[in-house]
This record gives sequence, structure tokens and C-alpha cells, in this order.
Amino acid sequence: GGPKPLAGRRIIVTSGPTHEPIDPVRYIANRSSGKQGHAIAAALARLGGDVQLVSGPVTLPDPAGVHTTHVETAREMKDAVEALLPADAAVMVAAVADWRTDTQADQKIKKGAGGPPTLAMVENPDILAGIGRHARRPFLVVGFAAETQDVSENATTKLDRKGADFIVANDVSVTSGVNEGGVMGGTRNRVKIVSRSGIEEWPEMDKAQVAERLAQLIARRLDSITV
Ligand code: C5P
Repeated sequence: GGPKPLAGRRIIVTSGPTHEPIDPVRYIANRSSGKQGHAIAAALARLGGDVQLVSGPVTLPDPAGVHTTHVETAREMKDAVEALLPADAAVMVAAVADWRTDTQADQKIKKGAGGPPTLAMVENPDILAGIGRHARRPFLVVGFAAETQDVSENATTKLDRKGADFIVANDVSVTSGVNEGGVMGGTRNRVKIVSRSGIEEWPEMDKAQVAERLAQLIARRLDSITV
């Protein structure tokens, strides 16, 4: 039931962390649970969107009514996202690892006389920035910013750096209520919606409610396109 303002709209969503392998048994990860990204994918699908979710490793089930592609690394996520273009909108919620090890060992790295290994790191591709400047850029590009300080200022800078229309800024220092451990992994969130026309502050609410309101905002924004 309910109105389907996103009927006929294809929307790519990224969610979860990425895992960057060091060797066959070890990887670099982060605390992202995928809760916010998966909730956004589900909310967009409830509004009738053709939702293409690209998820890093999470313990959550695939959201109902959403097409989900599972990936592990940032490079796999980037390839999966680009293969899903063209799209009307892209919502990049994943906590993509900033760095990976320069090389991935084929065999388990052994402990031994040489002492601990030194891991040389290289930067991962910025998937959002790539989409924001892509020849087939979706009409609407939304990024996230997990900050603990100067939340609005950093988000405003990020709009331009990433070529995004909106940055949803989380203050990841929110630790109230059921959020022991913080926004990452928790169920509550407080966000600011930063666009070139200003900053809208939303009160703290459940991630599902943030998802619902964001899906409605995206629907209104896509509605304003004259095709
Ligand atoms: O630069 P920062 O990591 O703070 O940017 C966060 C935003 O950029 C999020 O929307 C995230 O999904 C996206 N991102 C990305 N690829 C990266 C790093 C971040 O898509 N390598």
C-alpha cells in the first residue's frame, strides 16, 4: 500500500563497511553495521523505487523488494556501482575503507624472527566522488559524512569535493539511549542535510525514521525533474 512516488526511478544505494584483505585470513574493517544504508534502501523501495543496493559485508538480511549485490572490497564496490549505471539517483551510505594494503599476501603472513610485518597502505578509490563527476552522473547524488567535529563545515566542503547534491552529516559522537557504542552500530541517528541551499537539522530519531524522511526528500527532489 501507500503512494509510490518513486515508481520507475532507479536508485543505487551503497551500505555497510568494506573489508580490505591483508592476507587470506586477515582484513581491515570498520564498525559500520549497514543499518542506516539498508534502512534507506528499504524505504526507497517502499516508495516504489527500483532500488539497487550494493552492500559490503554485514550481518543484516537483504532488504525486501530491493536488488542486492554483495561485495567485499572498495574496488569491488566501485565496479558494482558503475556497472549499475545509469540511474536516477545514487545514495552512498557505505563506510568505504579509505586505505587498503598495497599488496595482499597469497599465503597467511607468519609470525617469526622478522618481527611484525610493516603494512604499506595505498588509498582506495573514492566511489562517491567518481559518481559525482561521472559522464553518466545520476540526476541526484547523495553522500554521507561521519564526523565528530565541525560537522556542518566539513559537510559543506564535502559537497564540492565529492560533486554531491546533498551531504547527510552524522554526528557520530551521538551515544544516547540505545546507542551504546555510538551511531556506528547503534539504532539512533541525528543528521543534518547539507545542500547548496543551506543546512536542515533533523532531531535525533531512529535510523528507520531518518531513512523514511530521506526517501521522501529524494522522491520530492526527483519529482522536480522535467523529463
Ligand atoms: O570522505 P569521507 O569518507 O568522509 O566521505 C564519506 C562519503 O563518501 C560517504 O557517502 C561514503 O559512502 C563515500 N565514500 C565513497 N568511497 C570512498 C570513501 C567515501 O564512496 N572511498
